[in-house]
Amino acid sequence: MTDQHLIHMDNLSQPDILELIDTAQKLRQDPSKVPNLFPRGCGLMFFENSTRTQHSFYLAAARLKMIPLVANLERSSLSKGESVADMLDTWSALGIDVAVIRHQENTFCQQLAQQLKSPIRLINAGNGNISHPTQALLDCLSIHDNKTELDQLKIVLMGDIAHSRVAHSFIQAMALLGNTKLHWVGPAIWQSDDPRINCSQDIDQALSDADVIMCLRIQHERMQNTPFNDNHYLQEWGLTAQRLQRAKADAIVLHPGPINRGIEIASEVADGKQSRIRQQVENGLWMRMALLIKYCSA
Ligand code: CP
Repeated sequence: MTDQHLIHMDNLSQPDILELIDTAQKLRQDPSKVPNLFPRGCGLMFFENSTRTQHSFYLAAARLKMIPLVANLERSSLSKGESVADMLDTWSALGIDVAVIRHQENTFCQQLAQQLKSPIRLINAGNGNISHPTQALLDCLSIHDNKTELDQLKIVLMGDIAHSRVAHSFIQAMALLGNTKLHWVGPAIWQSDDPRINCSQDIDQALSDADVIMCLRIQHERMQNTPFNDNHYLQEWGLTAQRLQRAKADAIVLHPGPINRGIEIASEVADGKQSRIRQQVENGLWMRMALLIKYCSA
């Protein structure tokens, strides 16, 4: 049985993830199979900026003929003291079935879920630095599109894992899918103590024979002081074309975006033939359609 909300990856099982990947791939293969969910409603409430997540959820809802509602937070009654939970219950009374929420606090959606009195469903669109499950799902889809046997791949995360909600959800997703070969390479200051990851400061060794490389953006907005100079970071810790040669010849390069060209990834790699960054963005649309179908019909 599906959990009422999608707050963390552990709200999903391995069969749930595989079913979502399958649904997204089928929707992409045959858009005539896209169901009509009118007059279901999908509300978007973003307390932090977003391009990919917010816009792909909006477009996913529109393709499903749902009614998309984008909260203008400054002009809403939150400014008069209404709580977010009361606002969501108001949305529910007006016909919104699913609320997609991004917030800077790690446990925002978790706490919100306990306060709701209506049947509205929450989808976490990024909370603090710990959870971004829909990004992890579209990343799984992007890997599945390019590689077989996800549990056998050598996957290397590069860069600021300490502040990356994308990485945390991705690690959980890969654990659910049975991959125990996750690696991370980056400055020791960001080293993870997650026992599921092999950590290293040796980039050439970490990238050796990699199947998938995921670059992570330096999350300046979640640090008091950034300990690195952007001008030197690429040469010290970023993914350059030369370093990419250490990976398998058919390795793919992912980046959840937004990318900082010339910092965590060289422009020629981001735009190169092994890059799947554009495919990740496209998959955001199909995966979020699959999610809206799942949470509207559960
Ligand atoms: N990857 C991601 O969450 O991008 P946005 O911040 O643009 O939504």
